[in-house]
Amino acid sequence: MVQATKRIGILTAGGDSPGLNAAIRGFGKAAIGLGMDLIGYRDGIRGLVENRYTPLDSGALSGILTIGGTILGTSRDKVHRMVIDGETRDMRAQVVENYEKEGLSGLLMLGGGGTAKNALRLAGAGLNVITLPKTIDNDIARTDTSFGFATAMEIATEAIDRLHSTAHSHHRIILTEIMGHRAGWLTLGAGIAGGADIVLLPEIPYTVASVAETIRTRLIRGSTFSVVAVAEGARDVQDSADIEAAELLVHAAKIPEQIRAAKAHLANVTDAQREHTFKLARELEAATGLESRVTILGYVQRGGIPCAADRLLASRLGTAAAHAVSKGQFGVMVAARGEDTDLVPLTEVAGQLRLVPPDHEWIQTARKLGTGLGD
Ligand code: F6P
Repeated sequence: MVQATKRIGILTAGGDSPGLNAAIRGFGKAAIGLGMDLIGYRDGIRGLVENRYTPLDSGALSGILTIGGTILGTSRDKVHRMVIDGETRDMRAQVVENYEKEGLSGLLMLGGGGTAKNALRLAGAGLNVITLPKTIDNDIARTDTSFGFATAMEIATEAIDRLHSTAHSHHRIILTEIMGHRAGWLTLGAGIAGGADIVLLPEIPYTVASVAETIRTRLIRGSTFSVVAVAEGARDVQDSADIEAAELLVHAAKIPEQIRAAKAHLANVTDAQREHTFKLARELEAATGLESRVTILGYVQRGGIPCAADRLLASRLGTAAAHAVSKGQFGVMVAARGEDTDLVPLTEVAGQLRLVPPDHEWIQTARKLGTGLGD
């Protein structure tokens, strides 16, 4: 019996991440080898809703392994609450219509936490969906790691290396703010690898007194400089408690008016803390008498070519996804599990956040190295 060719849509969603193209290529090559036809949606969920796509044949997959970003483009849209012409709309029915019109048998979505939620919504609407874990934050539940993380960690480590010599020359405190959203993986990994003197994570609220004490102890021992790796989500004890209290209000709110007010309050609290690394620099300068400077690494961490580890991971996960699709396995994320891959139900991934456990081996390593954690 001749089997109908499977036609699969691919999209990349959320923040871009090194390794996305390696994953598209990995999936594409294996899927074409298995007899599938592929189309790539432009700009994530937005392209899926607007039915904007490009055919992905062997030629389109050639030469993209080392390219940064995503050849397909991306966006941060939520399919059930998409802003179109200034109006917020649920676009699930439109996606189902496009999926059927194009004769798709499945949809591969490459993304992080937000994408897993979108994928689950689309699976709920009846689509065959499969995802791959992408993010520099390394915060996706039920996978050992995600592609993009290793490259970003290399970049942040190199930045810490470079900041050492200038901090040392000027006898300064240099604080470097590292991405990671609400997780400290990137800061902790790069902080250990780059030998930061202090590492501040969202998972461990700090006190300025403790950070200043570490710097003063270093001064007494003759180190007249300090490099502080600050996660973008790290907060002192008070700010962290303020955020937690504001989030509790959002969760407790029942009626629309309460929900709106609680969300507005949370936004105000978050907004007031936006410059937290600069504030900490001023506080440390006052407490230690050392000049302080701040470097925000920002989007440099997401740009450029993926490192070898990310290319390998993305290729492994991508090819595994093609085999899962050929067997009709959907509603899952292809996870990295040791030296193997695993299929995890999307219900176990969406809405979950993988934070650094306080007793994690990397935390223990940092403590044994004498790295200050601000607690
Ligand atoms: O999730 C990746 C990430 O780079 C986070 O580390 C950061 O908080 C966020 O994206 C930045 O988002 P945006 O690209 O929307 O500015």
